[in-house]
Amino acid sequence: MATAVCPGSFDPVTNGHLDVFERAASLFDHVTVAVLINKTKASLFTVEERMDMLSQCLAPFPNVSVDAFHGLLVDYCRDKEIKAIVKGLRAVSDFDYELQMAQMNHRLSGVETLFVSTNPLYGYLSSSLVKEVATYGGDIAGLVPDLVRERLDARLAER
Ligand code: PNS
Repeated sequence: MATAVCPGSFDPVTNGHLDVFERAASLFDHVTVAVLINKTKASLFTVEERMDMLSQCLAPFPNVSVDAFHGLLVDYCRDKEIKAIVKGLRAVSDFDYELQMAQMNHRLSGVETLFVSTNPLYGYLSSSLVKEVATYGGDIAGLVPDLVRERLDARLAER
């Protein structure tokens, strides 16, 4: 069975991420979307909240599951017998760091990284920008799923 992982922070998931997951799901028998547990990085949503949003958004895809991991991604891949990492590339600015990580991960364990060219509709989109725009009252409709927009509005209203 050909399996892949789409790793990330997903704080929160955007429509750009979902586009990459959907395309990965069409190429592999099974795709795991894996949320990094990073206690040193401040996040708006807990790992559980992020996983819950992802699970709801990905419910229509029977060959996609959601998980969390800590430590090295290559160790997670080894434990789960995952052979490929799939990531979206938005622009040349993504490439330097992504290439570095892909090469390091390959050196560490032989795992391959495949890049999906982000849909141009979402080329400028990031979780950070979405949070910033939402924080100052900007319209993020169409950039994240409605359920994520509602959770974002609620979380920001608590602050
Ligand atoms: O959404 P992000 O925060 O840009 O995702 C980055 C992520 C989680 C893919 C990357 O930081 C990662 O794989 N972290 C796990 C730790 C690890 O394996 N580090 C070595 C990378 S070569």
